[in-house]
Amino acid sequence: MSQTEHIHWFRSAAPYINTFRGKTFVLAIGGDLLRSDGFDHLIHDIALCHHLGIRLVLVHGCREQIDDRLQAAGIESRFHRNMRISEKSAMPVILQAIHEARSCIESRLSMGLPNTPMSGADISVIGGNFVIGMPLGVIDGVDMQYSGKPRSIDCDRLRELLPRHIPLLSPLGYSRSGELFNLPAEELAAQVAIQLGAEKLIYFHREYIHRDDSDQFSTAECLQAIASGEAEGGLASLLGQAVDAVQQGVERVHIIDSSLDGGLLQELFTREGAGMMVTNRFYEGLRRASIDDIGGILELIQPLERSGALIPRSREQLELEIEHFLVIEKDGMIVGCIACIPDMESRMGEIACLAVHPDYRKGGFGEQLLAAAEEQARKAGLRHLYILTTRTSHWFLERGFEPASLDFLPEGRQRSYNEERKSIIMTKTLD
Ligand SMILES: CC(C)(COP(=O)(O)OP(=O)(O)OC[C@H]1O[C@@H](n2cnc3c(N)ncnc32)[C@H](O)[C@@H]1OP(=O)(O)O)[C@@H](O)C(=O)NCCC(=O)NCCS
Repeated sequence: MSQTEHIHWFRSAAPYINTFRGKTFVLAIGGDLLRSDGFDHLIHDIALCHHLGIRLVLVHGCREQIDDRLQAAGIESRFHRNMRISEKSAMPVILQAIHEARSCIESRLSMGLPNTPMSGADISVIGGNFVIGMPLGVIDGVDMQYSGKPRSIDCDRLRELLPRHIPLLSPLGYSRSGELFNLPAEELAAQVAIQLGAEKLIYFHREYIHRDDSDQFSTAECLQAIASGEAEGGLASLLGQAVDAVQQGVERVHIIDSSLDGGLLQELFTREGAGMMVTNRFYEGLRRASIDDIGGILELIQPLERSGALIPRSREQLELEIEHFLVIEKDGMIVGCIACIPDMESRMGEIACLAVHPDYRKGGFGEQLLAAAEEQARKAGLRHLYILTTRTSHWFLERGFEPASLDFLPEGRQRSYNEERKSIIMTKTLD
């Protein structure tokens, strides 16, 4: 990478660094990852995120370690519905495997990271009885014995620790009666993220669903992928946890390609990402407009046109431009809209007709619409967005737009600029 590219990359990462500082991310690290070549690099990346002020909770699994130790002890690994049956006689061996996995992570995070970019980093890893577990019980007539599920998590204590320490949770739950249960790490991670109110839950997995046009999946799309068999086995159960987490308030769940060196940093600090993201943020009612929405859009924008906030648009003009509109629909009513009208020659797009119904303002709909329009523009290969506004320049300023002069606009748009309206021209470069 040349020095200029380096500087450009660093600048492009700055908004993410700023956004993520003080946010809580839960990372689920599977037992296979602990043994992979990329594990040392992942530890450095975790250390880097911690030092950038991201609050991290690590949840580790150890399926492979348990399998190996059981095999060495001559005990058969038994599963039901892809969940381990933790027999009483196997528990001492299971505990040894869990401690082995835990020590592996603790030791790597303690080694001072010599000869690495994080040399000298001092990281405090904390463990404890944060998780109360309970037995899974009998499923389909199969007694799951000492396999359990999380019953409660001491989030208050975790929150107190988070600014300075990295809590590392093993897949164990302590019961009120003093027993220990082996918990599925993926479910534990999801529950920790939900109960802590984490901004992100991050899984590492070799398989994920890849699509050329978007790495974002709604919960509905995930459920469909599970039902159709597109996602099966381990990926299906991860997506199931992801759906639960998103439906219970975790804004984004990432499934990062575990074989990719630097996958965590790529997902967090670049626009391309490194796997799939499950979120309903852009899906709840936000969609491309169709010709049937024109009546609803007109109802929304006509009062704003009368007040002068928006330039009047005829029904005919809307019909011509409808493919460039996005809308938010709530209870059968169009409550928000935006258009991004592309000019492919100049690779610029005009943001137009941004409106949110007065009853729904200050809820982030405006921002969601703009983010979705930006995403659409990027995919269409546009380089810049611009907006002509009379009253909303500060709203755009706060969202990365900058004032520009008339000659920045595509020539056709320069000619149609209404001098009397004196709109402020603002632009944003799409990276
Ligand atoms: C601008 C508009 C789309 C924002 O919609 P929204 O869903 O309320 O937007 P968000 O929830 O993402 O953002 C709300 C924030 O923007 C602020 N905001 C709203 N209008 C603003 C303006 N004209 N200038 C600066 N900030 C503004 C709000 O005060 C709020 O900030 P706060 O929570 O700190 O008080 C909406 O106010 C609207 O429809 N306005 C009338 C039409 C219009 O002016 N469109 C733009 C044409 S260029």
